Amino acid sequence: MEYDVKDLALAEKGGNRVEWATQGMPVLNAIKDRFSGEKPLKGVRIAACLHVTTETAVLMQTLKAGGAKVHLCASNPLSTQDDVAAFLVAAENIPVFSIKGEDRDTYYRHINQALEIKPQITMDDGADLVSTIHAERRELLQDILAGTEETTTGVIRLKSMAADGVLAYPIIAVNDANTKHLFDNRYGTGQSTVDGIIRATNRLLAGSTFVVAGYGWCGRGVAMRASGMGAKVIVTEVDPLRALEAVMDGYQVMPMLKAAKLGDFFCTVTGDIKVLRQEHFAVMKDGAVVCNSGHFNVEIDLESLAEMSKGKRQIRENVEEYRLSNGKRVNVLGEGRLINLAAAEGHPPSVMDMSFANQALAAKYVTEKGPTLEKKVYGVPEEIDLEIGRLKLAAMGIEIDILLPEQEKYLASWDMGT
Ligand code: ADE
Repeated sequence: MEYDVKDLALAEKGGNRVEWATQGMPVLNAIKDRFSGEKPLKGVRIAACLHVTTETAVLMQTLKAGGAKVHLCASNPLSTQDDVAAFLVAAENIPVFSIKGEDRDTYYRHINQALEIKPQITMDDGADLVSTIHAERRELLQDILAGTEETTTGVIRLKSMAADGVLAYPIIAVNDANTKHLFDNRYGTGQSTVDGIIRATNRLLAGSTFVVAGYGWCGRGVAMRASGMGAKVIVTEVDPLRALEAVMDGYQVMPMLKAAKLGDFFCTVTGDIKVLRQEHFAVMKDGAVVCNSGHFNVEIDLESLAEMSKGKRQIRENVEEYRLSNGKRVNVLGEGRLINLAAAEGHPPSVMDMSFANQALAAKYVTEKGPTLEKKVYGVPEEIDLEIGRLKLAAMGIEIDILLPEQEKYLASWDMGT
């Protein structure tokens, strides 16, 4: 079996950590048990490009239990947990191609190695498999039924491809399921981003000024958690409605150029390029901490930061201190890559439980329905979303009310009086 991981001796540690994650993933476990009996993915070849974490390992076990053959590579060069990669190879016989800190060439070599499985399903987090297949590996298209996409940034890219008529196979936007983005993007990114910042810096958030760029679901989560730790939160936005929402949620809202002078911490979560750039670095306070929790490392313009700096040094693990020509210091965390995965462990198991339940059930869905789907981006079917919500509530021991038939009828009617 071909694979490329850092060190197989790490497998035992990885196995213990995967077992720990499993304990927080009851919905995915229930699906795994069901898959073991029904084998809905029997013989289906899946290439997965995901953050190689303990939670991803549980998803890989679930797909395998369903009968799939899987190759896994990383969806970010800094997010691999090497012990988990080793465990999947050594204990689960799943070919994994990923090493934390790999360079750009290795990252793309690993993507191509994962594609050697000749996938029928691609499972992406950021659309790198889809992009590589469309740009360089078009011979693979003939076998592909469909793909799934985990993240907002990937979905945006894929919808642009579909709008331009270049998307060559159907995609299920897992991110768009309510049981995904309402929980993973908000509570998962919120907690794990603050976790990453604290692990990297060991600085106190209480009393600090924390600037969040972007008030999508991830930004909402980061702002909420930074505020919960006692920071004064400033939100920057380009969308008037999101800006208004941030104001009414109790945050200050202002342009980045003003916020740049005030912030002790900056976190970008916009999905766009150059959100923090030269004009902002120039006015930041000495010692400001900047990081990104958006999918790609494009939100902080590190090139211009390097140009305006006299030098940089690694002052702590995951912290690079840039010394600006104006004498001030700007600290960049995790090379501007997703800080929650670069410096912490990503989202906790109990939110990935729902995200990856969507992935597993979407894989089953496209295995059954793939040939009938068009070359478009689809949402996760509502029945799947609701089923995952129900399973999660049941696992948490929470009961909810059921509509009376009379109430159901009222909601569906337009002619019943007030
Ligand atoms: N994305 C964010 N957190 C993650 C995790 N723990 N595992 C896989 N993908 C993630």
